[in-house]
Amino acid sequence: MNKRFLDACWGKPVDRTPVWLMRQAGRYLPEYMKIRSSRTFLELCKTPELAAEVTLQPVDILDVDAAILFSDILIPVEQMGMELDFVPGPVFARPIRSLAEVKKLHIPPMEEAVPFVLETIAILRRELSGRVPLIGFGGAPFTLACYMVEGKGSKDFAQIKKMMYAAPEIYSALMEKITDMLIEYLNAQIDAGAEAIQIFDTWGGILSPSDYEKSVLPYTVRLMKGLRRGKTPLIHFVKGGGTMLETVKKGGADVMGLDWHVSLGSARETLQETVVQGNLDPTVLFAPHATIEAEVARILAENAGRPGHIFNLGHGILPATPPENARFMVECVHRLSQK
Ligand code: CP3
Repeated sequence: MNKRFLDACWGKPVDRTPVWLMRQAGRYLPEYMKIRSSRTFLELCKTPELAAEVTLQPVDILDVDAAILFSDILIPVEQMGMELDFVPGPVFARPIRSLAEVKKLHIPPMEEAVPFVLETIAILRRELSGRVPLIGFGGAPFTLACYMVEGKGSKDFAQIKKMMYAAPEIYSALMEKITDMLIEYLNAQIDAGAEAIQIFDTWGGILSPSDYEKSVLPYTVRLMKGLRRGKTPLIHFVKGGGTMLETVKKGGADVMGLDWHVSLGSARETLQETVVQGNLDPTVLFAPHATIEAEVARILAENAGRPGHIFNLGHGILPATPPENARFMVECVHRLSQK
C-alpha cells in the first residue's frame, strides 16, 4: 500500500516525496502507441479494459506514486451534445456562439453518459488494489468553455474573450451549465472510486488576474463546494496561475498545482501551509541525466523539507520525451528526498 501521494495531499509527513507526471500515459510510451495504433483516441477512452491498461503502463514503467485515469477533459462535453473529434488536437464541429446553443446543451445522468469512465475507474481500483492511489480528473469550467467556444485550441482565444467581454449573458449561461455538468461528472468519478481529483485549468492563465477573479473564480468556487470531497483531496492546476496564486487559492482546493514560471520556494511563501504540486519544466526531460538530477535537486531544495509537496512536471509530458529520462526523473525524486 503506497499512500504517500494521498498523505502529501493532506500535508502529512511522508518517507519520500511522492511523484507523478501530468499526462503520464500517452504517446511518448511505445507500449501506449502499440495499443493506440489499431484504434482512435476516442475509442481507446471508451473501452474500459484498454483505458485501464494504458492507465497502468506508467505505474509499471516509471514507478510513479499515483495513477491517473486515462480519458480526456473533453469526454463529458461530447455527452452534452457537442460533436467531438481529435486530429490529434480536439475539434468541435459546431462551436458555441449563441445563447440558443448554450440552452441546447444538456446534462445527462452520468451512468448513461459516461458508463465507460465509471467502469474504467472500477477496473482500476480492482487491479491497483491499493498499490498506488487513483486520480480522477476534469477540466475547469473556463478551460472547457475555451474549447467549446473556439472549437479547437487557439493562440489568442479571441472568441471566448470576446464572448466574456461583449456577451456576458451568453458567457455566464455557458459557465453555469459547464459547472453544473462538472459537479455531476466529478462526483460520479468520486463515487466510482477516484481517490483524488485534479481540475485542469490549462487556459486560466490567459486572463488578467482581475478577469480571472471576476469571471472564472466564482464558478471554480461553486464547483469545488459541490463536490463530495471529504476523503478525496482536490488538486487545482491553473497553467500560468503563478502571478495570481492568492486569487487561485480562493477557489478552495486542497492542493495547488504550479507550472514552472513560478519558483516553488516563492510559491510556498505566498501560499503558506497550502500543499503544492509541481513544478519541473517538461522539456528538462530532454536534458542529460546530470541536468535532470540537478533540476530535481533544485526543486526539492526550494521546498526545503516542508511537508505537503507532490513532485510533478509544470505541465504535461511532451510526446517526444524519452521514457528512460522520465523514469530517471522519478528515481531521482525518490532517492534525493528519502528521509
Ligand atoms: O494524464 C494522463 O495520463 C491522463 C490522460 C489525459 C489526457 N488528456 C489524454 C490525452 C489527461 C489528464 C488529459 C487532460 C487534457 N486534455 C488537458 C489538460 C491538461 C493539459 O495538457 O493542459 C487538455 C487541455 C486536453 C485537451 C487535449 N486532448 C489536447 C489539447 C489534445 C491534443 C494535444 C495532445 O497532447 O495530443 C488531447 C489529446 C490527448 N489527450 C491525447 C492523450 C493521450 C493524445 C491522443 C492520441 O493518442 O492521439
